[in-house]
Amino acid sequence: MAIERSSRRKIRGATVFACSALALAMMTAPAAPKPAAVGTPVTKPGTAQGDCDTPTTPFCDALMKPTVGWKGHVFHLSQDYPAAATPDQMPWLKFDPKTQGNQYLQAALDYFYEGNIRSSVEDSFDPAQNTVRKWYNAPWQDFGKGGREFIHGLTRERVTAISELYTAPASCKKSPLPRTCNWNNYAVGFYNMPGGEIIGKVWSDHGKPDPSLASFPEGTVAAKLLFTTAPVSQVPYLKGAPQWQGYIYSDPHIQTSEIPNDPSLRKRAVLTVRLLQIDIAVKDSRVASTTGWIMGTFVYGGGPGGPKGSGWTNVAPVGIMWGNDPEGLPLKETVLNAAVTMPHVGYQGRLNGPVDNPISSCLSCHATGESPVGPSGMIPSPPGNPKWFQNIPSGTPFDPGAHATDYSLQLSVGIANFLEQMKIMHAPTPAAKAQEIARKNQLENRSPREGSPID
Ligand code: HEC
Repeated sequence: MAIERSSRRKIRGATVFACSALALAMMTAPAAPKPAAVGTPVTKPGTAQGDCDTPTTPFCDALMKPTVGWKGHVFHLSQDYPAAATPDQMPWLKFDPKTQGNQYLQAALDYFYEGNIRSSVEDSFDPAQNTVRKWYNAPWQDFGKGGREFIHGLTRERVTAISELYTAPASCKKSPLPRTCNWNNYAVGFYNMPGGEIIGKVWSDHGKPDPSLASFPEGTVAAKLLFTTAPVSQVPYLKGAPQWQGYIYSDPHIQTSEIPNDPSLRKRAVLTVRLLQIDIAVKDSRVASTTGWIMGTFVYGGGPGGPKGSGWTNVAPVGIMWGNDPEGLPLKETVLNAAVTMPHVGYQGRLNGPVDNPISSCLSCHATGESPVGPSGMIPSPPGNPKWFQNIPSGTPFDPGAHATDYSLQLSVGIANFLEQMKIMHAPTPAAKAQEIARKNQLENRSPREGSPID
């Protein structure tokens, strides 16, 4: 306590000093651009402080508390999950997903946008401010090297080489690829009320999630905003994209294998990220014979050569899919938007987003959502393995003996994170605990999105 109090006093002293120094500087020299002051991060790894993520408390908002002195937006996990969803419109039902893919996706996107777009970009997509309909976040994404940050709840996504987004400059055509040609991406996902109801049921006991209840009803919508650290100078179609602040890795080129195992050495800072991709998943019984889910993705600015524009609505659909085309080429269960040309989509032309792994597809990766997570991982191994391109009906697990999480990876990853934390907390000896932490860190040196097992 004594240490805490004296350090608080020191911080106050430092602020006073900084203010008078700033006043002096303003009198003597023209103001130079300064990095945003963010103060000292207060780290809260999961349950350590006991005020969240325990069986008797709410879920944590993020991996860390807001930095001292932070005045900007703060993410609060939307976790007031409803006991039962109230009836709502389903405007996408007006369209046939197989023949009117663009209109179907636009209707679902408009539904997601309603009440979420605000005049302040930083305050947009904050469920607490949406007066049209409720949206919810899945818990336990605040864990490990890529865990949720405190400003917008962003989690670290797959790293992309610039050539996956746009024609690479000559300096990024070399082998080995200079590390500055790779850019980190971050994302935050939301579920509508039917989705929130199921998250609430699975997690109704905060100390004992029940994946057997993970079956989403008709009309569930999950949507995810993906932001990149890549600059407009290298990805011109990002011009005009909404920008958020994120408390993310201060090195935007950092590879997963380069993130230190010691949390105190993981350097984060407030950086600007730009909207690149929007993912949408809709539970729709019209495609129950394949997977039960429609997945679609949008790219900012319409991708390379797309029309100019700005703001949240300046996005174009890349494509739509309702199955994994187990019979192979020609594809019948992905329809790409002919007006958009991306440097890559998914395996053999199946749908995937700009930041996603080209050897996979939306539904291929999401079909692996199960609990406990199996040993196979999310990515086809070896590449092209038909096991990852089946049409697994909603409710059937990827591996025998597991519970399917109905194509939700936030449920399967969240429960895996929770179980991992329990293993660490309840390790019988300090040595066993250290060993478990080391094992987890080792596992995290490669992202599951690149083929590493989750657990
Ligand atoms: C290689 C794996 C992989 C691929 C490919 C992939 N995703 Fe995901 N997706 C994830 C993981 C892991 C999560 C959960 C963690 C998170 O939100 O980052 C997720 C989360 C989501 C969510 C939030 C709800 C949920 O299911 O957890 C949506 C919606 C989503 N993805 C849609 C898509 C769409 C649409 C595509 C294709 C354009 C796609 N994903 C491709 C791995 C993948």
